[in-house]
This record gives sequence, structure tokens and C-alpha cells, in this order.
Amino acid sequence: MLEIACGTGYWTTVIAETAQSVLATDVCPNFVLTVQQRLSGRSNVRCQIANAYALDDIEGKFNSAFAHWWWSHIPKSEIARFLNTLHSKLLPNAFIMFIDQLAYPNEGRHIDDEGNMLEQRKTPDGRTFDIIKNFPTKQEIRSVLKDVADNIEYIENESLGYWGLSYRVKMLSRHSAVC
Ligand SMILES: C[S@@+](CC[C@H](N)C(=O)[O-])C[C@H]1O[C@@H](n2cnc3c(N)ncnc32)[C@H](O)[C@@H]1O
Repeated sequence: MLEIACGTGYWTTVIAETAQSVLATDVCPNFVLTVQQRLSGRSNVRCQIANAYALDDIEGKFNSAFAHWWWSHIPKSEIARFLNTLHSKLLPNAFIMFIDQLAYPNEGRHIDDEGNMLEQRKTPDGRTFDIIKNFPTKQEIRSVLKDVADNIEYIENESLGYWGLSYRVKMLSRHSAVC
């Protein structure tokens, strides 16, 4: 399984319980180091620094992929490009799962020129940043997947505040892609 944006490896640990092998990736070197140390006793886990939008350095093809709390941070204009990049690293019919948050109350959000929701976050040293935090509708998700995915399953769990998506990468003809 290829894991995108693994963070501190909470879910890598869960995946490693059952997956034959996991490649946990994140753009942040500190997180990758953390996961490396956290899961050093697991022979089925590898870690690599990787930008989700440019996975060129990732070798081989995977039969599954996973990302938790990543989709919501993708600029709307980059979702199709991200999916194309991810799918290029997967085998036909690979299984993909995304889990992310349903909208929750938060003051001080605003929307940028491209329609992304921006949310203010504070770092421990007191600096503030606007980060993208989108809450896509089921229809938006289905629309972006319509030509590239089969067996789409989407669930919402309001009490736990998340949505979950799984699908299989469609066997595409050589020139097809998400546009
Ligand atoms: C909200 S955290 C989720 C971390 C982890 N999946 C979890 O659920 O605990 C978002 C993660 O995205 C990573 N990230 C941000 N931009 C990225 C990029 N362009 N490519 C890969 N990872 C990225 C951050 O370093 C961070 O670990």
C-alpha cells in the first residue's frame, strides 16, 4: 500500500497490521523520520519523503493507496492532477481509500478566489497561517472520479465527523486521464 501524507504514522501503524507492505510518504522530512523511528520494528514498512503532487521518485507500482486527512488540504484546482499522479503509481484495479473530515464549526474561515476554504491555524510559537481546508460534497467527489474510478463507495459518519471513500482504479485506455 502506498500511503500519502502519513504525518506521524498513526494510520501507518494500523495499516502495517494487515498489509503485506506499506510505503509511508510525506513531504515533511520530520514526519518521515518520526514514522521511521516509530515503526522501525516493522519489516513491512518503508518510509520516503515525497510530494504528493510529484511522486516521480517512488519506485514500483502498488495495488492499493490510502490517505487520511489529506484530500481536504488539496486545492480544488489540483485534485485532478493529484489523482492522475497517484494513479500513475498504481496497478490497474488498485484499491484506494480516502478518509477526511465532514464540515465542523469554525470561526474565521474564508474562501479564496479559486473557491477553496481557508482556515486560520496557529503554530505553538504564535504565528498564524491560512491553510486550505475543503469540505467536498459527495457530488463533487463523484464528479472528479467519474472517468477514472470503479466500485465507488462513499460513506458519511456524522457522529464521528468523517467521510470515507473507496474505489478501484479504472483500467484506462492509454490516453485517458482525469481532465
Ligand atoms: C492533517 S495532516 C494528516 C497526517 C496523517 N495522514 C494523519 O491523519 O495523521 C496532513 C499531512 O500532509 C502533509 N503534506 C502537506 N503537503 C504535502 C504534500 N504536498 N505532499 C505530501 N504530504 C504533504 C503534512 O506534512 C501532514 O503530515
